[in-house]
Amino acid sequence: MDWGMKNRLSKIIKPNDGRCVMLAVDHGYFLGPTERLEIPEKTIRPLLQHADSLMLTRGVLRTSVNPSTDVPMVLRVSGGTSIVGEDLSNETITVSIEDAIKLNASCLALSVFVGSKYEHQTLANLAKLVDEGERYGIPVLAVTAVGKEMVRDARYLGLACRVAAELGAHLIKTYYCRNFEKVVEGCPVPVIIAGGKKLPTEKEVFELTFNALRDGACGVDMGRNIWQSEFPISMIKTIKAMVHENFTVKEAMDLFQKEKKTERDGFIQAIKKAKNTKRI
Ligand code: R5P
Repeated sequence: MDWGMKNRLSKIIKPNDGRCVMLAVDHGYFLGPTERLEIPEKTIRPLLQHADSLMLTRGVLRTSVNPSTDVPMVLRVSGGTSIVGEDLSNETITVSIEDAIKLNASCLALSVFVGSKYEHQTLANLAKLVDEGERYGIPVLAVTAVGKEMVRDARYLGLACRVAAELGAHLIKTYYCRNFEKVVEGCPVPVIIAGGKKLPTEKEVFELTFNALRDGACGVDMGRNIWQSEFPISMIKTIKAMVHENFTVKEAMDLFQKEKKTERDGFIQAIKKAKNTKRI
């Protein structure tokens, strides 16, 4: 592996503990203005400093992130479908390698749809992207997207992760499932878990994170369970403590309660300030 590739990877997965907290805000690429991500800049701004990396499309990167940031960018480069279209798996590569380099991407992310109608196309997209990434020293994160007809179990996810790794993906993002350790065991590159739809309670998010790390995940690529929370800053800070400081679920709950208070106080202060400014 060349120096540039190693250097970029070390920005995504922290070398001191081999872990990562990736903040996912790429949902609009097929979902449109997702709840609480309607104005990406507003969602991203308060959370960015707490993330190890940010996963997003070039459209949101250009319009909604200050270029002076030192947070590495994981650029989604697959898409071309939408939730109202015919088949979500019919994805193509949507960003040229030159534009990804211009945008200073630290990693390229692309979805594969194993078992879908467009399985071959999306796997061929991955192989092509890995070739391009290898040419310029940019790692590729394969996202194992799961079609409605597929079961999210260790057999299926283990197969999807292994196929993506065999095609050369440097990192894999997948879903947590029962017997997740089997998925990790059969995958020769680091595995990150997606958060998935917003869970009803914070405790469930912390349990998901704890179990995934215990079973071998190297971190999270989490979106909705952070920015759809009533207390997004408290959520990301707590998830970070779980990933990098091995907080238990109990410790996470305690920290979240504490952070929640600070976040609420800050919010009240901001409202008061805004009211006073209006009076002047
Ligand atoms: C989904 O296709 C996107 O790639 C998201 O980045 C991914 O699902 C993680 O976000 P969430 O935690 O909201 O599932």
